[in-house]
Amino acid sequence: MKTITTQVAIIGAGPSGLLLGQLLSKQGIDNIIIERVSGEYVLGRIRAGILEQGFVNLVREAGVSERMDAEGIVHDGFDIAVDGKCTHINLKELTGGDTVLCYGQVDITKDLMAARASASLVTYYESSEVKLNDVKAATPTVTFEHLGEKYQLSCDYIAGCDGFHGVSRPTIPADVRTEHERVYPFGWLGLMSDTPPVSDELIYSKTKRGFALASMRSPTRSRYYLQVPVTDKVEDWSDDDFWQELKKRLPADAAAKLVTGPSIEKSIAPLRSFVCEPMQYGNLFLVGDAAHIVPPTGAKGLNLAASDVATLYKIMTRVYKEGDKNCLHQYSEIALRRVWHGERFSWWMTNMLHNFDGMSDAKEQGDTQGRFAESEINYYTASENGKRVIAEQYVGLAYEELAP
Ligand code: APR
Ligand code: PHB
Repeated sequence: MKTITTQVAIIGAGPSGLLLGQLLSKQGIDNIIIERVSGEYVLGRIRAGILEQGFVNLVREAGVSERMDAEGIVHDGFDIAVDGKCTHINLKELTGGDTVLCYGQVDITKDLMAARASASLVTYYESSEVKLNDVKAATPTVTFEHLGEKYQLSCDYIAGCDGFHGVSRPTIPADVRTEHERVYPFGWLGLMSDTPPVSDELIYSKTKRGFALASMRSPTRSRYYLQVPVTDKVEDWSDDDFWQELKKRLPADAAAKLVTGPSIEKSIAPLRSFVCEPMQYGNLFLVGDAAHIVPPTGAKGLNLAASDVATLYKIMTRVYKEGDKNCLHQYSEIALRRVWHGERFSWWMTNMLHNFDGMSDAKEQGDTQGRFAESEINYYTASENGKRVIAEQYVGLAYEELAP
């Protein structure tokens, strides 16, 4: 068995693990990342694309913002369409200057991987049998296999950045953690294509046929989503079926501009709200999807991962730079306050914008929920105050500072 040592062991090389690793390294805090799959595999997963300002600032602080700053597209607002009638949510005006940045998660991940490689920071890709041991002890270990060799990594702290299906969360004993979950009766069928987007800004479209989202990655690459029953299989949907249905769910002027083309990716994601409490146990800290999942309707998944990273980064910096370990206990509380806010916003947007008709066990219930949702979205889009409530949450709450 090979034995290695670091200060912070990071499990998972998704955006959470890579961003945390980069920030820690900038402070001279040694870290090693252990990832289950290959780097190429990680980059093959198409995910979100809307970054809050807090995320953007963090990427800048990590010193990895060159391409993001050059290629990311600032979005001052977005549209909400209800049965074809559009309401513009002008984020910048409604929030007094805040905007979001459209830049894909895959691109952020690629930039972080390149920065890590060029700084010769260590990542063990394609590791198996990853196990977290003695997480309550002063020196926890992570054991794993890599290229046929067994490893034992000793560290001070473990950051569990290994996503919803990782090993970190189940390491916290079941009687210590509480898991909150809501599963929705529909999923999102996503399609990526090298076609120009229908609009300069995102369109969240609620219709009697179900929800649709028109998003993008660049002026030549579109990302679209359709609400589909959770039982649908991606094989059931040809590209042509997708385009025809999308056209019916977009407002008429956007539908008229729709340029179709072959899909370069098509997949169905179920919608789920999930939170694990607490987010820390001994010297283990859960970060990002390892601790929480949101339905994508508020564009919050990646952004909540970033605020966790920001909090843990501040804590680790204080621990190693100031020798103050008293701040360690603050992590879960601070992270969870923002997580629950993002969870509530994502749930609210999901409920207002989707079609629940016939989706409940008792049909009447689904229909009643549908009427509530219609009334609610009409109310919020009808006034400046209502739109501001949406805008303030969409751009994201400020990150909370550590207590002294
Ligand atoms: N050992 C090591 N690595 C693992 C293990 C394991 N047992 N299990 C999973 N992983 C890896 C996965 O292969 C993946 O690369 O952990 C990584 C987790 O990455 P993500 O799932 O992307 O999670 P995270 O980094 O928290 O990213 C934030 O929020 O809403 C989403 O789309 C958003 O994926 C983004 C996420
Ligand atoms: C995306 O572009 O993938 C995207 C954008 C906004 C969302 C969800 C997904 O709310």
